[in-house]
Amino acid sequence: MMTAVERLSKIHDEVMVCGRCRLAEQRRNAVPGEGNASAEMMFVGEAPGRREDLRGRPFVGAAGRFLDELLHEAGFSRDAVYITNVIKCRPPRNRDPRPDEIATCAELYLARQIQAIRPKLLIMLGRHSTSYILSEEGIKVGGITKIHGRRYEIKSFGFPIVAMPMLHPAAALYNAKYKDMLKHDFRILSTQVERLRH
Ligand code: URA
Repeated sequence: MMTAVERLSKIHDEVMVCGRCRLAEQRRNAVPGEGNASAEMMFVGEAPGRREDLRGRPFVGAAGRFLDELLHEAGFSRDAVYITNVIKCRPPRNRDPRPDEIATCAELYLARQIQAIRPKLLIMLGRHSTSYILSEEGIKVGGITKIHGRRYEIKSFGFPIVAMPMLHPAAALYNAKYKDMLKHDFRILSTQVERLRH
């Protein structure tokens, strides 16, 4: 049996050379994700942006700095969690990921990353990641501003996970109201993790 580290590393290698959709043509680097293979908390964003594409790492631009700040304020370090995206390659000019891109990529990579890590808590940042995860469960998603911070107990990855939608940090960067919502949701995260340990 492969360990979580070995399974993640294999997925990582596959992502780096993936050519399964049109996004492979224009990327500079694929961005598989990074962090702790035995993380209790896994964060799933939307797609790599310009900086992520240049560096091959998730959340390293402005939204990433804000995510780091949110993690820090909630008492978590980036090393303790795992961070990735629904799709692993940057869409041209940061357009929205298309349904076929999400379907192909998430099934091939994100789902296996979740199964390798087996996090207790899955945090979906933004509507694309939220609708992918909840649709696997047969839940139709309304507006993210309505359902952010709710707990969904999901089983579609083969083991129980508490999933929580949140606003995307990039959407909150220049919106004080969204910023407060996100900060509030991060504050309740540590209580959630604590509860899930028992
Ligand atoms: N936005 C995302 O959704 N993911 C990243 O990795 C960076 C910005």
